[in-house]
Amino acid sequence: MPRFVLPVLMSALMVMATGGRALGDGDPEVGRNIFDRKCKSCHIAEKDGPKRRGPNLFGVVDRKAGTLEGFKYEEDYVVAGKNGLIWSENDIVAYLNNPKAFLREKSGNPKARPRMAFRIAFEQDARAIVAYLRSQK
Ligand code: HEC
Repeated sequence: MPRFVLPVLMSALMVMATGGRALGDGDPEVGRNIFDRKCKSCHIAEKDGPKRRGPNLFGVVDRKAGTLEGFKYEEDYVVAGKNGLIWSENDIVAYLNNPKAFLREKSGNPKARPRMAFRIAFEQDARAIVAYLRSQK
């Protein structure tokens, strides 16, 4: 099989898996709105903002999991980061869809229990949230 076939195949599969939606398609304004309703009780996403129950999410996209200085994470997040979890858009979308399953997979601990235990069922909403987080400069 020629070398270029595999990458092309992979990206075609990715597009199918995401329902044809491309990375980075979320609307940051929509995302801010969802963030304010669903995340703000536990997270701020502002530069130098305080932590709440959860860590400050400013700059979380492409940050290693469990590494915001000064925040005391559950061990499973730290382990996931050590295992190489860097929060890509797709990771955040998968995490928000099912934090428990995602964390169990990434930490290798089948008993992991995130304090964040709800789901953002619609992928489009999750992508919008990521777009908002990315837009925070
Ligand atoms: C009930 C509180 C709560 C809510 C609501 C909540 N989170 Fe969290 N979140 C946490 C806690 C606590 C952690 C830290 C994990 C730990 O150690 O328990 C966390 C961790 C995270 C992380 C990993 C951060 C890192 O530095 O590795 C991301 C990303 C995240 N939350 C995104 C979100 C988003 C987006 C929303 C809204 C859709 C949200 N969370 C809603 C409590 C919450």
